[in-house]
Amino acid sequence: MTKIRAAITGIHAWVPEYILTNDELAKMVETSDEWITTRTGIRERHILKEKGKGTSDMGAEAVKGLLKKTNTHPDEIDLLICATVTPDMQFPATANIIADKVGIKNAFHFDINAACSGQIYALTTAAKFIESGGYKKVIMVGADKMSSITDYTDRSTCVIFGDAGAAILLEPTTEDVGIIDSIHQSDGAGRLHLHQKAGGSVKPASHETIDAREHFIYQEGQAVFKFAVSKMADVSVEMMKKHHLESEDLAWLVPHQANLRIIEATARRMGIDKSQVMINIERYGNTTSATIPLCLWEWEKQLKKGDNIILAAFGGGFTWGSIYLKWAYDGSNHH
Ligand code: ACO
Repeated sequence: MTKIRAAITGIHAWVPEYILTNDELAKMVETSDEWITTRTGIRERHILKEKGKGTSDMGAEAVKGLLKKTNTHPDEIDLLICATVTPDMQFPATANIIADKVGIKNAFHFDINAACSGQIYALTTAAKFIESGGYKKVIMVGADKMSSITDYTDRSTCVIFGDAGAAILLEPTTEDVGIIDSIHQSDGAGRLHLHQKAGGSVKPASHETIDAREHFIYQEGQAVFKFAVSKMADVSVEMMKKHHLESEDLAWLVPHQANLRIIEATARRMGIDKSQVMINIERYGNTTSATIPLCLWEWEKQLKKGDNIILAAFGGGFTWGSIYLKWAYDGSNHH
């Protein structure tokens, strides 16, 4: 029997209009455009400002656009998975809310919480459902309103994050394209260096947790940096070796956009040129679950059927991994 693979057959993203620049941040905390640019590569990020709007609103915009551009009716969708660390609510799942907002009625939906690696964990999970043969159209959404858990008095984190939503459509194929392999790992001990202290079952919201500013991202930047820089490269090199891929065989590396220095180190370890790496961190910052699909969306027109692509991510948990895929369509005639 021919093996069924999951092919990406469409991609769309949505970012809020409001742009928060480095200069504006320098008015809020003790920082400078120079520090932020040289240490992170970020110049600006988009922020969802409207009251009452959340992660699902960005996810829903991305899915609406995806359905439209791929000529897909909401009834055709079998499953929608949302990767996020900033769900609209503790429950129900943001995936459910997105599906309701776009009129998807014949499917089931759930969230994946794996911080910045959620996007690749969710993509692999979606692919497995397609490979099972029982699912024909699956949507993976990566969306985060990071501004909702960012402390804009903490200069070590507030310069990094941005808001965005992005969506990928997956369908079965028996051609030599699609998601070929994934390697994923986690290490729960890493939670000490990157987490949100309050708002969960251990420390529910109270006046004390609010006063102590514990409903925001807590990050020990250097500890996370060291782990991220080695693990993202290790797992990407491992993927290349496993599939006998040389740097010239790769069309693109699509890395999670957490810090330009981490991206450059990963590319160096893989022996690939910066021109083969999708980088848009300067305009969006770290949008957590949306970074990789946001890159694929921006580069879609340049992508060709059969392109060898490696996706790589590292995030809170710790979680990390990489995906090897062959792009399934010529992006230039897909608009
Ligand atoms: N402006 C000016 N100075 C700053 C700023 C700022 N915005 N932030 C920190 N500093 C200062 C610090 O206070 C420190 O000063 P000191 O030497 O007087 O103590 C100095 O700059 C150096 O601080 P470091 O934390 O060592 O700076 P570093 O170069 O490590 O950069 C950063 C910090 C950008 C956070 C980096 O560590 C990083 O990118 N870490 C990894 C982030 C990541 O990959 N996260 C995972 C994904 S996120 C997720 O999963 C949700």
